[in-house]
Amino acid sequence: MELYLDTADVSAVKRLSRILPLQGVTTNPSIVAKERKSLWEILPALRDALGGTGKLFAQVLAADAEQMVAEAVLMTQRVPGLVVKIPATAEGLAAIKKLKLMNIPTLGTAVYGAGQGLLSALAGAEYVAPYVNRLDAQGGDGIAMVTELQTLLRLHVPGSKVLAASFRTPRQAVDCLLAGCQSITLPVDVAEQFLGTPAVIAAVAKFDEDWQQAFGTCSLN
Ligand code: E4P
Repeated sequence: MELYLDTADVSAVKRLSRILPLQGVTTNPSIVAKERKSLWEILPALRDALGGTGKLFAQVLAADAEQMVAEAVLMTQRVPGLVVKIPATAEGLAAIKKLKLMNIPTLGTAVYGAGQGLLSALAGAEYVAPYVNRLDAQGGDGIAMVTELQTLLRLHVPGSKVLAASFRTPRQAVDCLLAGCQSITLPVDVAEQFLGTPAVIAAVAKFDEDWQQAFGTCSLN
């Protein structure tokens, strides 16, 4: 499977890439805007923070297919190897089709339904990003949508992968993986929830305390 961080926070990527087996970093316009730096500054810094390797994802801003394609061409010229995120709107699907012919890799994003995700894969997207928590927040069932999408891609477009996105809890991410998703992208706070649950910290502290009480030290010497 592939694990990504969904952030443009360079110091968080540096910190977490030491710990986690990351394949890269995904961003979106809101995430980049939070950093108040240009995409051209952020993307190379994110790649450095990953140790010079890893896949980067960044999204177009245009709403019509022709402009989306122009932005995707510019982005991949300036950042080689970039996967371009294209919202899976009607115009977005037209752009994905054109970019496929140009061998520019894409991810169909802002996916709120299994059928919509399937169409972006059929158009030629290498990855499809269903928004799990955002759908849950609207009263939908994010995991059910991911499960359906996963099955549809396996049956009909096996070359495309689900890259599940939009998480608020580790449980949502685990459920997507159980549904068979090959890749997920975690916001920094959700990645950190996997690492530092209070029960784990308390368990390790108790081991130290018991050792200290018996031997007066916390080392093996
Ligand atoms: C993925 O393509 C999006 O960038 C992102 O995961 C949306 O997540 P959010 O609901 O946390 O903003």
